Amino acid sequence: MEDRSSRLPEFYKKSPAERLQMVAEWADLEEGEIDILRQGLSVAQGDKMIENTVATHGLPLGIASNFLVNGRDYLVPMVIEEPSVVAGASYAARLARAAGGFQAESTEPEMIGQIQVLGVSDLQAARQRVMANRDRLLALANELDPVIVRLGGGARDVEVRLLEETAAGPMLILHLIYDCRDAMGANVVNTACEALAPHVEGITGGRVRLRILSNLADRRLVQARAIVPIDALARPEDGLSGEEVAQGIVEAWAFADADPYRAATHNKGVMNGIDAVVIATGNDWRAVEAGAHAYAARAGRYTSLTRWGLDGENHLLGSIELPLAVGIVGGATRAHPTAKLSLKILGVKSGRELAEVIAAVGLAQNLAAIRALAAEGIQRGHMRLHARQVATAAGATDDMVDRVAARLVAERQIRPDRAAEILAELASGKCWEV
Ligand code: MEV
Repeated sequence: MEDRSSRLPEFYKKSPAERLQMVAEWADLEEGEIDILRQGLSVAQGDKMIENTVATHGLPLGIASNFLVNGRDYLVPMVIEEPSVVAGASYAARLARAAGGFQAESTEPEMIGQIQVLGVSDLQAARQRVMANRDRLLALANELDPVIVRLGGGARDVEVRLLEETAAGPMLILHLIYDCRDAMGANVVNTACEALAPHVEGITGGRVRLRILSNLADRRLVQARAIVPIDALARPEDGLSGEEVAQGIVEAWAFADADPYRAATHNKGVMNGIDAVVIATGNDWRAVEAGAHAYAARAGRYTSLTRWGLDGENHLLGSIELPLAVGIVGGATRAHPTAKLSLKILGVKSGRELAEVIAAVGLAQNLAAIRALAAEGIQRGHMRLHARQVATAAGATDDMVDRVAARLVAERQIRPDRAAEILAELASGKCWEV
């Protein structure tokens, strides 16, 4: 199994059915599982997931190739509506592969649950009483979920933060640190916070209001690093040497590092990759988004989630660090039929391994975006796929999609009104082709 490579030459040239077959062989999928991937989520299954279901809503599931993370090959399922993301990730993963791929590491999967206590007369004294009761609170929390404790997780620590001035007066905020193992952890953490609340009221003499996890999961961090040989970045077709492209990437990163307006877009590009895998695996992408952006602002100024620099020895070095609250059990990860199979295709054995692959995808996506921006500009690569979407939206079907798209690209006018005109001309046979 482990000698399989995620380098799939010409994968993009195959039909979706051929690609599915290749992925099925790669991941050892059974016939029934292939059928599930073909069918997607049924309305009956969707009805068990949310309220008032009337239909399901499809999005393309693409496979990013070339990923080598900590010496292991991965095919990465990505669910996303935007063109160029899957291609960009695969391309950047190939660049990183030349020097051994991505190195990733993660902290223990610890989440923070918050208990908000108001009406405490002496905050300092209450803090001391909470800390004196730390072990009792942890023991109470651990009685609630013996399974996660048996798996090596559970409540780890208690911290107290004092918010002395808020719009609603002083507050004592208790943080329950909880190791969620392979679960995202929202349910287990919220349950523990709710169960501890009456004890916390007794200890502090205050009144508890909120009991909920924090999405700023800064105890559940993931880092990924990549080394890219500068020669691999050369763009002779654009007249750019590897050094010039590498310098362009570093300059693009420095812009995001210094300017929140640019950092928001730069990080959006990172999240194009991260969200696509988070969604494919049935994880909560709003939680991951909230955590990522809050973490990007942790120093008091919003900045880039990645760093890029040169090592002076013909390498471009990149790194990313962010919180990633993702799991491989619980939530929709197993209940959603394609999410379950996305996890099987990835072949990850733990939530941490999943998070490490996702961080590598985020770094790859960022490299793809800023390399394109720094070299040829984003529109050229985007144009053909974008044109296909515009053509489809204008009503083109089957081979008309490519024919209309080719015209839009040739004319450099990728607009719905022009697509409709070309479609009408092609349909009436009065149109030149490119
Ligand atoms: C588009 O979805 C993402 C980019 O804007 C990211 C970036 O600017 O770095 C291309």
